Amino acid sequence: MMSGNTFFTAFLIFHFISFGKIHLLGSDTITYYQHIKPIIDEHCTGCHRTGQTAPFSLESYEDVKKRASMVEMVVESKYMPPWHADTLFRTFHNQRALSASSLNKILTWIKSGAAEGLPQKNGAANILKWPSPDKIVAFQKPFIIPGDNEEQYRFFVIPVENPAPIYLRGVGFVPKNKTLAHHSRIMIDTTKRIRPFDAASVWQAGPQLEKMNIPLANSFWTGWVPGNFPLFYPDGVAKVLPANADLVVNMHYAPSAKEETDQSEIHLYYAKGKPRRIIETLVFDETWVTNKPFEFQPDTVITFYMRSPVLPVDLSLLSVLPHMHLLGKSFKSFAITPDGDMIPLIHIPDWDFNWQQTYQFNNLLKIPRGSVIYAEATFDNTKNNPKNPYFPPAKVRYGWGTKDEMMNLIFEYLLYEPGDEYLDFYGSDN
Ligand code: HEC
Repeated sequence: MMSGNTFFTAFLIFHFISFGKIHLLGSDTITYYQHIKPIIDEHCTGCHRTGQTAPFSLESYEDVKKRASMVEMVVESKYMPPWHADTLFRTFHNQRALSASSLNKILTWIKSGAAEGLPQKNGAANILKWPSPDKIVAFQKPFIIPGDNEEQYRFFVIPVENPAPIYLRGVGFVPKNKTLAHHSRIMIDTTKRIRPFDAASVWQAGPQLEKMNIPLANSFWTGWVPGNFPLFYPDGVAKVLPANADLVVNMHYAPSAKEETDQSEIHLYYAKGKPRRIIETLVFDETWVTNKPFEFQPDTVITFYMRSPVLPVDLSLLSVLPHMHLLGKSFKSFAITPDGDMIPLIHIPDWDFNWQQTYQFNNLLKIPRGSVIYAEATFDNTKNNPKNPYFPPAKVRYGWGTKDEMMNLIFEYLLYEPGDEYLDFYGSDN
């Protein structure tokens, strides 16, 4: 006769086995159409679709299935989707990183044979749509991207010729050569002095422009990296394009073996009437560095620190965008409130020049009056840095050229109003 204990053990084993089995059955039933396609559509096909930056499409079952082992590798190592911000420091509205459960689903699905399953009734709805823009402005003429296997960094000037400020509820950068366009940063010049530099190389024109010391109306109006789509703001809030604006696009193209063209566009979506609240940008630049000189001796690793003045008003932050060039290694920013509390803003432990982007906060983030915002960035000017533009390492200084260095931190903000922190600022549909 079984003793109570033995019975209990047998019972446990029985359950363990059957639960194990149920679990296995559960994983057997993970199918592409039911479980995996929705994850891929949300996290991958923004870039992995026909005509986009990624080198192949992941839009169909066959696309994913034939690359299953590669997909397994890149999601497990977190190489894909590209997401460089530390999610334990802060999570963001436009976060691409896979949740632990989505990651597990993909891995289990691939390990158990990547079953196709049956197409879902509403499964084909992944068509990204947004309204037609009110105005489209484009590079003045098509740019010929030379087929010389070299990266291209260019300025393009788009004169908008608007006699009055334009209030915008949305703005989008739309690259026309989606396979070579790598990222763009858009500035606003109202002096017209950058016009002669249309299509000029950043390396060649950068130093000259720097000397001219043109007071830009906005040195970081908006930016784009692959996988970004037009950005919309809710009613009553707008971005402003000042009168007589020239949009100056700082554009990076990937190397190409054959000649191609690009004539990218900026799509403007007008606000209805004059909005009550205007989005401003707060730009930290190198003059805010507290341990100057902002210079990089060869064969050294150095950390620079910046701090804002004491904030005179309450702010509601919308987004944060750190910017460095090729020596950048890591970037961290946080605010300290008058009560001594720390508000984490962004941490990028492993900087990648190719994937700099605007990080949108989940909700408007209140930074109380009296706070100070801090930033610290580490730069590696040794030969251990594979991105170092000089070999052997050389002395590097501040500059617009990609081989020079920069340390910027850009926030989009509104003046705080009570209740802002509870606002899901971007809504659920964009
Ligand atoms: C923001 C754009 C973007 C998103 C989102 C993205 N990818 Fe990619 N992916 C790229 C680009 C660009 C490349 C090619 C350059 C590279 O390997 O970094 C790439 C390369 C790859 C590769 C080939 C890697 C290799 O070593 O050749 C795989 C596999 C891949 N992606 C899978 C995925 C999967 C799966 C997802 C979603 C979970 C995803 N990607 C999301 C842009 C993206």
